[in-house]
Amino acid sequence: MTAQLIDGNALSARLRADVASRAAALKARGVVPGLAVVLVGENPASQVYVRNKVKACNDNGLHSVLEKHPAELSEAALLARVEALNADPAIHGILVQLPLPAHIDAQKVIEAIAPAKDVDGFHVASAGALMTGSSGFWPCTPYGCMKMLESIGYDLRGKHAVVIGRSNIVGKPMALMLLAKNATVTICHSATPDLGAFTRQADVVVAAVGKRNVLTADMVKPGAVVIDVGMNRNDEGKLCGDVDFAGVREVAGWITPVPGGVGPMTITMLLVNTLEAAERAAAASAT
Ligand code: GUN
Repeated sequence: MTAQLIDGNALSARLRADVASRAAALKARGVVPGLAVVLVGENPASQVYVRNKVKACNDNGLHSVLEKHPAELSEAALLARVEALNADPAIHGILVQLPLPAHIDAQKVIEAIAPAKDVDGFHVASAGALMTGSSGFWPCTPYGCMKMLESIGYDLRGKHAVVIGRSNIVGKPMALMLLAKNATVTICHSATPDLGAFTRQADVVVAAVGKRNVLTADMVKPGAVVIDVGMNRNDEGKLCGDVDFAGVREVAGWITPVPGGVGPMTITMLLVNTLEAAERAAAASAT
């Protein structure tokens, strides 16, 4: 059996069209959804990411501001910029691109962002909201993975989901989102012995490690759904995920490709969160 592909580009296009129409509706009420993207230093990968985020905003009717600061910017100066953006009514979402230079405490900066504008979902208040099932912003990458499962009509109730990776940005929030949909969830990580013993029991596997070939065909239950969050380069320099795609697609029921899978969903969910932040702000100011 060859797995069906979950096409992140096609799903992103549908979700972005919905964002654009909701942005137009807000604009008609005099509110232009706005995202501030803050970049400190010249990390080449970060420069590409922030350019893509700003372009995605502009393409879908959102206003965006890109603030570029030199790598020498002090922590105090960055905190002051975040405070100014918190107070700016034209800005509904704030994203401080990570990693930050070593002299800046990234967590301190994230905690300075107003939770109502935390469209990355990295603030402890956002993490707490996800954990307790209350209203907040979900981190974009795992949120995008949930949308991919939803797009194939997959019912997680009673299913066993195995998440490989335990980062604050993907693994941990992913596990909580799957749990909220009534899956039985196992989190595996670098200290897990015999990873395959867990993944072979899984109806859904999410691989979020950042290492090639973490999941191979012999580790997958026939028909399982495989979501690949990895972004790696193979020996030829080609983009590849954490999953041995060629092997696993012959066993799985559904699989996300790399590129064209989870990647485009991350920016799409950033747009969704920013739009949601603007809609909440508009609703709050109308009352
Ligand atoms: N660096 C890599 N991915 C991300 C992301 O999703 N958000 C932020 N703020 N920084 C990142």
